[in-house]
Amino acid sequence: MEKHYTLITGASMGIGRALAEECAQRGRNVLLVALDGPELHAAASEIAQKYGVAAQPFGIDLTAPDAPLKVYSWCQENEYSVDILINNAGFGRGDILNKIPLGVYQTMLRLNNQVMFEMTYHFLPHLKQLDKAYILNTSSMEGLMPMPFKTAYTSTKHFVTAFSLSLREELADTGVSVSALCPGPVVTNEDGLKRIQRSGRKAKLVVMYPNQVAPVALNGLFRGKRIIIPGVMNQIMILLNNALPLALRMRLLRKIGAGVIPKEEAPRENSTL
Ligand SMILES: NC(=O)c1ccc[n+]([C@@H]2O[C@H](COP(=O)([O-])OP(=O)(O)OC[C@H]3O[C@@H](n4cnc5c(N)ncnc54)[C@H](OP(=O)(O)O)[C@@H]3O)[C@@H](O)[C@H]2O)c1
Repeated sequence: MEKHYTLITGASMGIGRALAEECAQRGRNVLLVALDGPELHAAASEIAQKYGVAAQPFGIDLTAPDAPLKVYSWCQENEYSVDILINNAGFGRGDILNKIPLGVYQTMLRLNNQVMFEMTYHFLPHLKQLDKAYILNTSSMEGLMPMPFKTAYTSTKHFVTAFSLSLREELADTGVSVSALCPGPVVTNEDGLKRIQRSGRKAKLVVMYPNQVAPVALNGLFRGKRIIIPGVMNQIMILLNNALPLALRMRLLRKIGAGVIPKEEAPRENSTL
């Protein structure tokens, strides 16, 4: 059996769960990290049973102080050698900035950015000792184009993208390859489904499911891609977006962003940015 492990944060459901399944299907042992609860433990035992690999759960609130260090210590104590680190746990909220309580933003910034940073910081010395190792950070298409009305989320995801690109170059002379996964909308829960329904017909063209994203993500990771954008429509959107002048691009993105918040709260077309 493969002696190394792939560690995935946010692995109890959604994209993280699909990534864990995809790794297991490829014969890799997995370490599943998420909030403690029955879903996490069920995910680990189902994966172990279905794919015949080792699948260990670790329940923890990653936003708690020192949680990333506790995850690292758990691996050390159990002699789990991690050769693929997948920083996936994260969440987003969209609305007019002050409509969302500050505490939600504080948790978002901690989970999406600080936790990813600290996990990488703790695991990197071990990863660098291996002949080949990988880091996959789940960003978003919104980590490539600033999305108005999701200002905090899009900013956290730009951090993830920039962190991944910079670290990758820093590690160019090592065996560690870093990639940023930038999915478009992915249906992972009821809320996501409602958000996509509010976004209209065009958004539905780019919607994907976690089990479509995961194989593309791992193929891209093993090919050493810098940025992995699942879905041809999403790739075209990013190309078009990059080709437009900034002011026009931001006006279009403003329209898209405004379409996602509830209608009565959407700003008038002629209001200023
Ligand atoms: N869905 C999309 O449309 C989309 C698009 C682009 C990028 N992304 C990014 O993809 C990643 C995964 O998103 P998703 O939609 O798959 O999420 P999801 O279905 O909501 O799953 C989130 C996972 O993170 C875990 N988690 C949440 N808070 C945690 C905490 N404080 N400590 C430990 N674990 C925690 C959850 O654990 P529990 O199960 O225990 O709650 C769950 O396993 C995120 O970084 C997100 O920003 C998502």
